[in-house]
Amino acid sequence: MKRKVTKAIFPVAGLGTRFLPATKSIPKEIMTLVDRPLIQYAIDEARAAGIEEFIFVTSRGKSALEDYFDAAPVIHAELEAKGKKDLLEILAKTTMDSGQIAYVRQQKAMGLGHAVWCARRLLQDDEAFAVLLPDDVIAAEKPCLQQMVEAYEETGGNIVATMEVPMDKVSSYGVLDVAEDMGSFVKAKGMVEKPKKEDAPSNLAVIGRYILQPEIMDTLNQKKIGAGGEIQLTDAIAQEIVNSDNVYGLRFRGQRFDCGSKSGFLQATVAFGLARPDLAAEFSDFLNDVVAMRQAAE
Ligand code: UTP
Repeated sequence: MKRKVTKAIFPVAGLGTRFLPATKSIPKEIMTLVDRPLIQYAIDEARAAGIEEFIFVTSRGKSALEDYFDAAPVIHAELEAKGKKDLLEILAKTTMDSGQIAYVRQQKAMGLGHAVWCARRLLQDDEAFAVLLPDDVIAAEKPCLQQMVEAYEETGGNIVATMEVPMDKVSSYGVLDVAEDMGSFVKAKGMVEKPKKEDAPSNLAVIGRYILQPEIMDTLNQKKIGAGGEIQLTDAIAQEIVNSDNVYGLRFRGQRFDCGSKSGFLQATVAFGLARPDLAAEFSDFLNDVVAMRQAAE
């Protein structure tokens, strides 16, 4: 029987060192693409996929995230007094009902697998759940997690979002060993975290969207240390292949930006800026000028 997915875990306890000094005092997830923090993109995607409860795995110094989802009575009153309905609508999307959002702390950054395990008590024993890494931002006609929920209705089991990457980049990702390729999705027979190029079983990389079965918590509970000295979610998913043979990779339709890296963040800023009707004309004129000036200087 397939278990409905209504809860999502957002692991946001990492230190975000690639964005120092910015992340010294602000969480990476609060950094903005155009005018929305990274976390808002992830929340909107989760909502579109039918998620009703949001679990954040946080750490010290992340209180700006909790404030972001709280009510903002002063701003609200000001906008209402001025009749700014459009801004009130934008604000409404950031506010969560009490009980709809929960926070647990990961006291030490021991890895993504450990962060997911920290949320175990907020899930029912028989409940499938989603995991979204907010620094992977995906531009897609149909939101990526929604595509995964639809695929899940067909496959059940555990699903990871996958995309082809150049072989010289595989060592930055978890990589799937493919048992069977059905085109839009694959069945996995193995999964390895950050393999060397020569050891990689394929170039099908896993990115930060997962639908997982609750049994994975038992595996994570063993707290096995993996690549980089961290408790890896990839290793626990690989174990699910051994235990239950029910892990699939979905080749999602859309463009993924690695907003945990400076280059990916800049690319996303350009792509999302150009996608905004209120900014596109002026912004693309500016970009064309920049390119023309660079070419003239060369
Ligand atoms: P990253 O590998 O991007 O690590 O984690 P990071 O700490 O955020 O960033 P850098 O590498 O120091 O710049 C991927 C995701 O997993 C979460 C992060 O918050 C991010 O969403 N994570 C990672 C945790 O919640 N806990 C961990 O122990 C590790």
